[in-house]
Amino acid sequence: MGEARTSVAALRWLDGLELLDQRLLPGRVRWVGVPGAAAAGRAIRNLTVRGAPAIGLAAAYALASEARANPELSQLRRAARLLASARPTGADLARAVGHVLRVIEQAPREDRFERALEAARALHQADVAACLAMGEHGARLFEMGEVSLLTHCNAGALATGGIGTALGIVRVLHAQGRLARLYACEARPVLQGARLTAWEAVQDEIPCTLLADGAAASLLASGAVQGVVVGADRIAADGSVANKVGTYALALAAARHRVPLVVAAPTTTFDMACPTGASIPIEQRSADEVRTLRRHRTAPEGVEVYNPAFDVTPADLVTAIVSERGVARPVTPETVRSIAT
Ligand code: MRU
Repeated sequence: MGEARTSVAALRWLDGLELLDQRLLPGRVRWVGVPGAAAAGRAIRNLTVRGAPAIGLAAAYALASEARANPELSQLRRAARLLASARPTGADLARAVGHVLRVIEQAPREDRFERALEAARALHQADVAACLAMGEHGARLFEMGEVSLLTHCNAGALATGGIGTALGIVRVLHAQGRLARLYACEARPVLQGARLTAWEAVQDEIPCTLLADGAAASLLASGAVQGVVVGADRIAADGSVANKVGTYALALAAARHRVPLVVAAPTTTFDMACPTGASIPIEQRSADEVRTLRRHRTAPEGVEVYNPAFDVTPADLVTAIVSERGVARPVTPETVRSIAT
């Protein structure tokens, strides 16, 4: 039985932050240098890097770059505000930036860059370890021998610093020889499932079948999958889960067909200050993401569009939540609290 691993990475530090430009996948693999906070803020907003843990790590490294360019505290606080507000829904972003800023504030001026870089690297290493732990906890939830799983969006190596959250579970099962097949919803409008999850699966030789989002309910009805595994962008204290739009519809269909829905997220994604899903800020994105497909217009110009990037799945539709600390099952405020820190 092999170790769960991946050949895919979203970001790296090579004397500066570099991001794999996810807008170009699966067509082109191109790493881009990110010189500082303004460029990192743009890269987060335009989805060069995306996925809640990965944007937190990118911002942490970007703040370190900024400390190298200008160690002035007022400037670094401004940069931190800019980074933390680049996207509103994922909890990891503001948390990672806040952590690196506190380290900077406590360091002597001449050490600010080194300390910030050390802090960003430590966050990255913690995420690698968290992904592995979630993979193992999550794989134990599927004890029935070989399983096929359905996922949504991309909660893999491209969305984290490690093997992924939901795809961490998939990779552990694959390494154990217990994954029959991964089914991936394409995740309109930005197609993170088609462009990114399917690409990761091909890179790591994970058997994968892609489906249009509208085909998920009939797949669940067919009995072909034994579980749905997804990541999260923010988990509220009551166990409601914000994740890529379409997760809620999947959860409803999974419940109807008695297929367990497992959410995997590191503790950095939990927000115990958010009492319920209703308090989670949901990012609204540009109308053109829906009116066009890879820059090709597919709807009349000017038609109104509803384009929330995320939706909230209520706790009663979630069978289990997995963090690096363990498993919350059933999902209640008490079990969520026990795995949140
Ligand atoms: O808009 P995106 O691509 O950043 O959305 C990503 C998701 O919704 C992921 O499922 C979530 O961040 C978890 S990633 C480990």
